Amino acid sequence: MELRGKTALVTGASSGIGAATARELARAGCRVILLARRQRELDRVAASLGDRTAAVHALDLTDADAVTRVARRISADLGTPDVVVNNAGAGQWKFVEETSPAEAVQMMAAPYFAGFFVTGAFLPGMLARNSGHIVNVSSAASRFVWPGATAYTAARWAVRGFTEALRADLARTGIGVTLFESGVVATEYWASNPGSRERVPGIGRLIPEVTPEEAARAIVRGVERNRKLVVVPLMMRLTYLQHALFPGIVQWLMTRTGYRRPLSA
Ligand SMILES: NC(=O)c1ccc[n+]([C@@H]2O[C@H](COP(=O)([O-])OP(=O)(O)OC[C@H]3O[C@@H](n4cnc5c(N)ncnc54)[C@H](OP(=O)(O)O)[C@@H]3O)[C@@H](O)[C@H]2O)c1
Repeated sequence: MELRGKTALVTGASSGIGAATARELARAGCRVILLARRQRELDRVAASLGDRTAAVHALDLTDADAVTRVARRISADLGTPDVVVNNAGAGQWKFVEETSPAEAVQMMAAPYFAGFFVTGAFLPGMLARNSGHIVNVSSAASRFVWPGATAYTAARWAVRGFTEALRADLARTGIGVTLFESGVVATEYWASNPGSRERVPGIGRLIPEVTPEEAARAIVRGVERNRKLVVVPLMMRLTYLQHALFPGIVQWLMTRTGYRRPLSA
């Protein structure tokens, strides 16, 4: 899709990958709608976009009614966005027995339900126009698994399943669907989730970290080129290739070099 003059909506735009993607979309010529919960951080990102900011809405994207309300307002003010980037997400890397039921529900709610609600709100407009592009941001955790991140992993598999099913639904329409997956991206996520970093499996530490800006550039290129799957960095793409050829070996290494529960006395 040629992005100049288009309207793009980014969820989780108050920090990290979402804020960087909003800036990159603005640089590509889009007017950008920013969504997340924290007003002050959203305003800071909006200020950095200048007149490329189309709208800012602070809301909890796991609240389906709030998403419907805000989506109606956006559609009335600006029309259906040309591009929707479902990036809002959170979640700690924990074993099942460390995860409360509320945390498990919360981890499924964002990214998976948030992405589902936002897509559901704008898809009718995209279908009516027969054009648009949806990006779902996930993680390498939706390809292979490692110990100590159980609910987080399940939620990323949900995002991947949703994305693949959506693409099948939208075959023979003018609406593109991109799945973005990466290894470690240097964002606030890691500081907000103490203990998660230590659980990156040994083999995963061989894969270089990427910056939010690098992730954002890859996402925007993926939209411009209508890519089904975007994976960064190159070393992660090579790991995907190895996994496709030798799934058992790569999965064994992820498990074998992964975090282990401290031994109880
Ligand atoms: N960092 C990594 O290494 C990495 C790697 C692969 C995939 N990812 C995925 O990339 C996505 C973005 O993560 P990030 O690393 O950029 O983390 P981040 O800096 O913590 O950003 C997360 C964003 O999601 C928003 N958000 C979370 N829950 C929300 C909710 N209920 N309603 C509205 N907004 C919500 C946050 O905004 P508010 O707090 O203002 O609501 C924030 O803008 C996540 O889905 C993450 O799993 C990250």
